[in-house]
Amino acid sequence: MDFSKLNQNERLRYLKAETKLTKEEAEILRTGKMELKDAEMIIENVIGTIPIPIGIATNFAINGKKFLISMATEQRSIINAASKAAAWTLPTGGFKACNTGSIMLGQIQVLRIRNYERAKHQIFANKQKILSLANTQSSTRKAVDLRVRKLKSPPMLLVELVVDVKDSMGANIVDSMCEVVSPLIESLTHGKVNLRIVSNLATERLVRVEASIKKNLVGGENIVDRIVSACAFAEKDPFRAATHNKGILNGVSSVLLAVGNDTRAVEAGAHAFAALSGRYTPLSFCIKNPEGDLEGVLEMPMAVGTVGGSVSSNPTARICLKILGVERATELGEVAASVGLACNLFALHSLVTKRKAVIS
Ligand code: MEV
Repeated sequence: MDFSKLNQNERLRYLKAETKLTKEEAEILRTGKMELKDAEMIIENVIGTIPIPIGIATNFAINGKKFLISMATEQRSIINAASKAAAWTLPTGGFKACNTGSIMLGQIQVLRIRNYERAKHQIFANKQKILSLANTQSSTRKAVDLRVRKLKSPPMLLVELVVDVKDSMGANIVDSMCEVVSPLIESLTHGKVNLRIVSNLATERLVRVEASIKKNLVGGENIVDRIVSACAFAEKDPFRAATHNKGILNGVSSVLLAVGNDTRAVEAGAHAFAALSGRYTPLSFCIKNPEGDLEGVLEMPMAVGTVGGSVSSNPTARICLKILGVERATELGEVAASVGLACNLFALHSLVTKRKAVIS
């Protein structure tokens, strides 16, 4: 069945059958309505809402499981690009994804320290006390470790809470934990806490996804070579890397917007990760394997949640999550990254084969 050939009513009927959507849920999707009183619960000074189209990306198999993926975007061609590239990966088993778990860092900046060695010693000596205090904030999410660093010029101490945020995006709980331990940090260090906030550079919440595509599906070995050269260009040049990564985020952010996630947090993390070496680099790379086929790999931080925030409070986001059929945040991250890689590979293919990119 070709989803793109169905009319809109047939698509909703198909989703109802495949994902057990109720009649009411299908109606919420179709009309996309949000009452202003509900909007007022989410932001301040509400005057209206802005509709963004939601479409379904098809042909995705990730770690052997099939997905119907909702994508919210105002940009034409992205859903088509994701679906077409996903179809290219099916003969080789689809996307293979893995992740490093759900650890986020909370940063507590401490100023006016007179004796750094003593302050550090006091933090380490009272580590369990600090973690226990942090853990009064949640019965499910856990502060599991802490780190201390000294930054120079101007000098400051950083106490970093290492928190397993499980299936939440984690910013709120990490912020609360930092807040509650701050007076204890001040009394242990004799310093003054300034900032206490989550870090969006989620280097311990990475997703890695790879896919291979048979050369005949993209137009032969010559096209594979040209796609590999396009990646080498991004590797060497930050001006190209920024556009390359924009193509990845076209996919990632559309998936995350549909399920009510904070797209800015993931984008900030992605760009900081891309520049971690001191030079801005692409988040994905491609190689030609010994058979002459194309292999693509994407690695990026993925601070996403399947519970809490607007994931839970926005009915459309809840329905999109139901269509996706994921419960764990780590799996949502793997899906978003797979769509990111699909968009990236399709964009590169289009750039090397067409005079004008079909995604702009
Ligand atoms: C446009 O939205 C995305 C592309 O520019 C990505 C790329 O150049 O790789 C086509």
